[in-house]
Amino acid sequence: MHGDNKKNWWKSALPNCQPQTRVLTAGYDPDLSEMSAKVPIFPTSTFLFRTAEDGERFFYLQNNPDKRTPGDDLGLIYSRMNNPNMEIVEDKMLTQELGAEAAAVLPSGMSAISTMCLALLKPGDYIIYSAPVYGGTEHFFHDILSKFGIHAIPVYGPDPAEYKAAIDAHKDNVAMVFIETPANPTMAQTDIEAIVQLAKKYKSANGKVLVVSDNTFLGPVFQHPFQLGVDLVVYSATKFLGGHSDLIGGFVLGGKDLLTKVKSFRSVVGATTDPFCCWLISRSLETVELRMRKCAENAMQIAEFLVGHPNVTKVIYPGLLKENDPQCAIFKKQCSGPGSLISFYVKGGKKEAFEVLNHVKICRLAVSLGGTETLIEHPRRHTHASVPEEMCQKVGLTDSMIRISIGLEAPIDLIEDLNQALNRI
Ligand SMILES: Cc1ncc(COP(=O)(O)O)c(C=O)c1O
Repeated sequence: MHGDNKKNWWKSALPNCQPQTRVLTAGYDPDLSEMSAKVPIFPTSTFLFRTAEDGERFFYLQNNPDKRTPGDDLGLIYSRMNNPNMEIVEDKMLTQELGAEAAAVLPSGMSAISTMCLALLKPGDYIIYSAPVYGGTEHFFHDILSKFGIHAIPVYGPDPAEYKAAIDAHKDNVAMVFIETPANPTMAQTDIEAIVQLAKKYKSANGKVLVVSDNTFLGPVFQHPFQLGVDLVVYSATKFLGGHSDLIGGFVLGGKDLLTKVKSFRSVVGATTDPFCCWLISRSLETVELRMRKCAENAMQIAEFLVGHPNVTKVIYPGLLKENDPQCAIFKKQCSGPGSLISFYVKGGKKEAFEVLNHVKICRLAVSLGGTETLIEHPRRHTHASVPEEMCQKVGLTDSMIRISIGLEAPIDLIEDLNQALNRI
């Protein structure tokens, strides 16, 4: 094909392709950037208006999202509100999170969670949430949201009847159910579809009771919450999406109306992701499937090794779930792979766990997860240090627990490393 026949082929090729194909070209029009094959970076704080009238129209549409009609040229104004790299990474993310209509990139996972909550909730509202959640989320729910008159109620364990009891106790004021599944760090799974069906039976003053899923641990490769009916998905893009432990980022995804509210709030509070970070995430999304599958394959081998080690008393990894475990039914229903996070308990307590952590040589002693390298940490004293003792006891977050995020190293090397460290107990 020559000339005009070939023009814009990347646009027409996209809609019918698979996510792995679409992510490579989605969101980016080379025609707008000197035909650069890869996405350029737009390090600019502001954008030129062709005319004053253009500027007026762009501001009108920015300030009145309800007046926008499909096909409106929203224009670019100022990078706190929008930037080509933000738009490109959001479009790329949409190819990955199946069922989402719109995406907002945020400067961290916590920024995604806090912006989403503050944009959609009001004083007097209640959030019912699966416990445990990531320590920062717990802190935000209890110590920050409470200052705005928003209450957060934890539910322990996956039983939908417990969620029903929690919603019934605060009926009419429950505006959101937030589930982190698998949970950080206990790997506890919550039945997403069961929670969605339950929430549908209730109404809040804001309308429906929103179900939000933190999909950081298994998404976007092994778990697709929109296909199970959730309203919103949040991510720490710092983890698998970024994938190289070299950036901090986050996403909120969902329906267009909800995301318009989230994006308006994001602009006003200035929760803007810088162009270079967006560019890094765009690049990483091209390999997220490859990385997550390989890390999960490696993790299975490490989990099997840990189960056999005499100084390990328990290993929690979705890939090891037995048929008679109720968690297995949830896993089979909603996940297509086990991911690469493993939590395990060592014989003894903090002293023994620290002995292991202080003697690994290949695994890196650091918080975070989902990078190309294996990261190992102590949830009780590191990531979840601010979680109240009573809650830790209820969910089994003890001093003998270690969390490990398996990376792309050869599993044999990781096994040797963990073996020598565990043998010191
Ligand atoms: C499940 C989960 N959600 C949210 C976050 C917060 O993400 P960030 O550190 O990017 O703010 C984390 C961080 O570890 C996490 O593990």
